[in-house]
Amino acid sequence: KQPLSRLSVATDINAVGAPGTADLPWSELGFEFRPTKSHLRMTYRDGKWQEPEMVESPYINVHIGATALHYGQACFEGLKAFAHEDGSVNLFRPDENAKRINRSGHRVMMPEIPVETFIKACNDVVKDNVAYVPPYGSGGALYLRPLLFGSGPRIGLQPAEEYTFIVMVIPVGDYYKGGLAAPVNGLIVDDYDRAAPKGVGAAKVAGNYAADLIPNMAAKKKGFPICLYLDAATHTLVEEFSTSNFIGIDNENKKYITPKSDSVLPSITNKSLQTLAKDEGMTVEQRDIEVAELSTFDEVIACGTAVVVTPIGSLTRFDGNGEESKYQFTEDVGETTRRLYDTVRNIQNGEIEDTHNWNYKV
Ligand code: PLP
Ligand code: COI
Repeated sequence: KQPLSRLSVATDINAVGAPGTADLPWSELGFEFRPTKSHLRMTYRDGKWQEPEMVESPYINVHIGATALHYGQACFEGLKAFAHEDGSVNLFRPDENAKRINRSGHRVMMPEIPVETFIKACNDVVKDNVAYVPPYGSGGALYLRPLLFGSGPRIGLQPAEEYTFIVMVIPVGDYYKGGLAAPVNGLIVDDYDRAAPKGVGAAKVAGNYAADLIPNMAAKKKGFPICLYLDAATHTLVEEFSTSNFIGIDNENKKYITPKSDSVLPSITNKSLQTLAKDEGMTVEQRDIEVAELSTFDEVIACGTAVVVTPIGSLTRFDGNGEESKYQFTEDVGETTRRLYDTVRNIQNGEIEDTHNWNYKV
């Protein structure tokens, strides 16, 4: 990250304001709600999507019988917009988020949002909030949180007839304090599961995150900022973290290894990193990973939109008798972790050529 004095606030005269012109402490952003100018809102009623509108109030009037409130008929997305040095703002792979929200929505019987409608919604809300896009060089990004939920009443267990789609935006910095420079220690969770086989783990539905709250907070209390879940059926295979996918790196054999499981969320960051790893000649393996195999990895990464590429320093597991086994990875940031981080962030920041066409210019 650059010191504040070196941040360049780009001046795009066509924009309403420009990235970084809101009065915010750009180099101190964490990952917390902050008010912005507006969010986008669109309602599905009488079998079709109505026209979207930009709303300034962060409050919403919802029916007390809304299916999202009672039965968890809700899913969400997460993607980021980045300011480039030329003053433009670019979304990272919004088409992938559009496809995923529809897969998640389908799993809990919500209506499809056309891909173009989703991308235009993201585009328009960023434009309206361009002043809140962290300036080029700050290390931050504008996080977009699309949210789709059943807003119509239903008390018999059935899908709603009315849905609300929202895209809210929040300027963010690092999810885990210290970012790339500070490896995070994780706890392997045995007392709880995140997702059942054939359940909803591969969908980004709200309830998956509620299920994680107890283990997540208990781990934090023990000094572990991140939780790693195992497969629910046998607790012998690595699945994913609360917030992100798992990647194991074997440097000697130039291997990138990530779990293959129907109950893991297909991460867009993981998909992108796999492409970048292959570009640099690594072998990518998506397959079962036994817990014991953790001892063979040189580096472990948690990857996702919010956490980007977070180095995992160690993973600890307590057995039934409170005995501890600890898998230690690189003390510092591993070389492959750093390279993957740099490459994906440089693409996002417009600092190297976007050979895969991942940036979508707002
Ligand atoms: N796994 C979980 C449980 C997540 O919540 C996320 C975040 O979206 C990811 C993985 C990473 O997905 P992506 O890279 O698409 O953000
Ligand atoms: C994201 O990375 O976009 C997520 O949705 C993860 C969430 C726990 C912040």
